[in-house]
Amino acid sequence: MGRIAILGAGYVGVCTGIALSQQGHDVTLVDVVASKVAALRTGRVPFHEPGAPEALARAMADGRIRATLDARKALQGAEYVFLCVGTPRKTDGSPDLKHLRAAAQRIGRALVGRSGFLTVVVKSTVLPGTADDVVAPKLARVSGRVRGDGYEVVSNPEFLKEGSALADALQPDRIVIGAPTPDAANRIWMLYRSFTCPRVTVDCRTAEMIKYVANAFLATKVGLSNEMANLCERIGVDWYRVAEAIGHDVRIGRDFIRAGAGFGGSCLPKDLEALVRFSGKTHAPARILEETLKGNARQPLQVLRLLRAELGTLGGKRVALLGLSFKPNTDDVRETRALPIYRALRAAGAKVVCHDPLAGEAFRRLARGCVIAPTVRDALEGADAAVFQTEWAEYQAIPPSLFQGLMKTPVVIDARRTFDPDAMAGDEVRYRAIGLGTPRPPVQPPARASQRSAK
Ligand code: UGA
Repeated sequence: MGRIAILGAGYVGVCTGIALSQQGHDVTLVDVVASKVAALRTGRVPFHEPGAPEALARAMADGRIRATLDARKALQGAEYVFLCVGTPRKTDGSPDLKHLRAAAQRIGRALVGRSGFLTVVVKSTVLPGTADDVVAPKLARVSGRVRGDGYEVVSNPEFLKEGSALADALQPDRIVIGAPTPDAANRIWMLYRSFTCPRVTVDCRTAEMIKYVANAFLATKVGLSNEMANLCERIGVDWYRVAEAIGHDVRIGRDFIRAGAGFGGSCLPKDLEALVRFSGKTHAPARILEETLKGNARQPLQVLRLLRAELGTLGGKRVALLGLSFKPNTDDVRETRALPIYRALRAAGAKVVCHDPLAGEAFRRLARGCVIAPTVRDALEGADAAVFQTEWAEYQAIPPSLFQGLMKTPVVIDARRTFDPDAMAGDEVRYRAIGLGTPRPPVQPPARASQRSAK
């Protein structure tokens, strides 16, 4: 069984660590943030990820996983070190490698005079060429040892989705390993030997590209769905009916075609921007991705358009904004579409009252001074309109009568199909949704001459 150190105890590091520990490996989670390590040590997961606290507690009780601030000690006996540090967006759109470089520096120092082989696994999302041209040279410089002499660098991108990251780590739909030699690839396949999903072995650069292209496809699928949903709404067609039908075509698929206020989160927008920039620099411009990003920036404004269609001017209107995280089942507000919606509402003079089952406090840090209602009822009370930005289960359970009972005018704007339009079709609610066109009566054939004369 492998001895593994994981540098970076975010959701990728922790969920990967739990999954590897469940395979019987010995895992040490390392982070530079003392509060994170302190939380992990007491079995608390410092972010919201369903199932992770219970799984972490079990692994800790079995002694298969631990957390520390001491990278040097964790690296001492390790055979593998996973780099799971963040690569946030720099102002120019490229990924910031400062955490990755710092981690490589630490590993390089640990390699000095060390016996035993260390496989350095780059899991952080990095542009093609980073493992070979940044991490490996850094290790060589700091350790004074050439690549292959006591260590090797491989790439093993992650495909975890927040909110189901642990489930995805335990049951991946594929594992991709990029390695410079078959030996290096085999060493890491040893760790994953009991996983039965498809396995792909390539070189590091290809593995890094696979990660970006996967996210580029997903984002583009959402972007195209949003564009078609906007068109559907204008011509009296329901996008969700269209999506259901086209989704039966396995070449299109049913996932990632839900229209909404745009894609957010810490990955899709950032990775797309990085790939666009990288493509430009490589003289192979990614025009479709450029348009996808532009469309994504415009998409939150669809909510404002629907609101104005119902309320006219927004000045002085009280609007409840529900669903602040970038998607349900997470407290993560990074790149949430709720922020541009909030800002546009404020700019239009609306009074905004926000609510989220989990992400209220995190959103308050982004939108300083925003009002966070403690309950859904408080948010809806006296509102001229309610905007649902994400489809939390708690919201899906709201009966239409509550809107009529609490709100000044029961206008509901559903950015993400939180509610079934049929259930909202009665008189209690004025319901509008992204991609939901008002059906038009079918065109009647012209009456025949005989019918006309009969009248
Ligand atoms: C995404 C990818 O889905 C993961 O495969 C990848 O590993 C991860 O990025 C990463 O690079 O680390 P995540 O950011 O957790 O995962 O979130 P997604 O579930 O992909 O959702 C991203 C955004 O797209 C959300 O705002 C979501 O609401 C939106 N979305 C998703 C739609 O608007 N429509 C859909 O049909 C699906």
